[in-house]
Amino acid sequence: MARTPLVFGLGLAVALLVGWVAFPRVLYVQRHQPLEFRHKTHAEKSGIVQCSECHAFRDDGTFAGIPSIAICTACHSERIGTTNAEATLVENYIKPGQETPWLVYARQPANVWFPHAVHVQRAALECRECHSPYGESDEVRIYQLNRVSGYSRDIWGPSISRLRRAPHEGMKMSDCEDCHRRRNVEVGCIGCHQ
Ligand code: HEC
Ligand code: HEC
Ligand code: HEC
Ligand code: HEC
Ligand code: HEC
Repeated sequence: MARTPLVFGLGLAVALLVGWVAFPRVLYVQRHQPLEFRHKTHAEKSGIVQCSECHAFRDDGTFAGIPSIAICTACHSERIGTTNAEATLVENYIKPGQETPWLVYARQPANVWFPHAVHVQRAALECRECHSPYGESDEVRIYQLNRVSGYSRDIWGPSISRLRRAPHEGMKMSDCEDCHRRRNVEVGCIGCHQ
C-alpha cells in the first residue's frame, strides 16, 4: 500500500508534463515570416517616426494593416544595406512586383469584426495595449498556428490556462468583453460578429 502515493505522484507528474509541456508543443505548428523585418532598424535609420506612415488609415476610415510593398519600394527599389533580409525583399518581392505574404499574429476568425478606428482614433487606445510593444522590437516573431482551430496562437495567448498577466497576452472573445466591461462599452453579438 505504501507504493500507492508514489504511483499516484508519478502519474500526476506525467499528466502535468503532458498537459503543460507536451500538449502545447503538439498543438502549435511554427511558421516563419517571409523575411526578417525589424521595426527597431526602421525607427532608428529610416527617418520614419510615426507608426501611421506604414500602418495607415485609408480615406474611408478602414485600417490598412500591414503596409503594401509600394511603401517599401520608396526606399528599397535598390539595395541600400548589406543584409540578407533586404536582399530577399528586393529580389523576391520588389523587383517581381509581388506582395510579401506576411503572417498576421493578431488575425481573428473571419466572422469577427474588429474596427481599429474606433479603438485607436475614438477611444485613443495605444497599439501596445493590444499588441505588446512589438512595434518597437528588434526581430520578427515566430508565428504559431493552432492545428485544431487554424487560428494564430495570439488568440488564446501563450498560456492555455489563461492565467495571464498583461492585457495583450491573448485576444479571445472574453478578452474583448473584459475591456468593454471595464470601460462601460456595450457591444452586442452583432457588433463583433458579421
Ligand atoms: C523611409 C525609408 C524606408 C522605408 C519606407 C522602408 N525601409 Fe526598410 N530599411 C530602411 C533603412 C535605412 C534600412 C537599414 C539598411 C541597412 O543599413 O541595412 C532598412 C532595412 C530593412 C531591412 C533589413 C533588416 C532590418 O534591419 O529590418 C528589411 C528586411 C527592410 N528594411 C524591409 C522593409 C520593408 C518590408 C518595408 C516596407 C514595409 C520597408 N523596409 C520600408 C529604410 C526604409
Ligand atoms: C517601415 C514601415 C513600418 C513602420 C514605421 C512600423 N511598422 Fe509595424 N509592421 C511593418 C511590417 C512590414 C509588418 C509585418 C512584419 C511583422 O510582423 O513584423 C509590421 C507588423 C506590425 C505588427 C504585427 C501585427 C500582427 O498582428 O501581425 C504590429 C503590432 C505593428 N507592426 C505595430 C507597429 C507600431 C506600434 C509601430 C510604430 C511604433 C509600427 N508598427 C511601425 C511595417 C512598419
Ligand atoms: C483594442 C485592441 C487593439 C488596438 C488598440 C490596436 N490593435 Fe491592431 N489589431 C487588433 C486586432 C484584434 C487585430 C486583428 C483584426 C482582425 O483580424 O480582423 C489587429 C490587427 C492589426 C494588424 C494586422 C492587420 C492586417 O490584417 O493586416 C496590424 C498591422 C495592427 N493591428 C497594428 C496596429 C497598430 C499600429 C495600432 C496602433 C495605431 C493598433 N494595431 C492598435 C487589436 C488592436
Ligand atoms: C466584444 C466582441 C464580441 C462580442 C460582443 C461577442 N463576441 Fe463572439 N467572439 C469574439 C471574438 C474576438 C471571437 C474569436 C476568438 C475566440 O474564439 O474567443 C469570438 C468567437 C465566437 C464564437 C466561436 C467562433 C469561432 O470561430 O471560434 C462564437 C460561437 C461566438 N463568438 C458567439 C457569440 C455570441 C452568440 C455573442 C453574443 C452573446 C458574441 N459572440 C458576442 C468577439 C465577440
Ligand atoms: C483595451 C480595451 C479594448 C479591447 C481589448 C477591445 N475593445 Fe472594442 N472597444 C473599446 C472601447 C473603449 C470602445 C468604444 C469606443 C468609443 O466609442 O469611443 C470599443 C468599441 C468596440 C466596438 C463598437 C464599434 C462602434 O461602431 O461603436 C466594436 C465592434 C468592438 N469594440 C470590437 C472589439 C473586438 C472584436 C475586440 C477583441 C478582438 C475588442 N473590441 C477589444 C475597447 C476595447
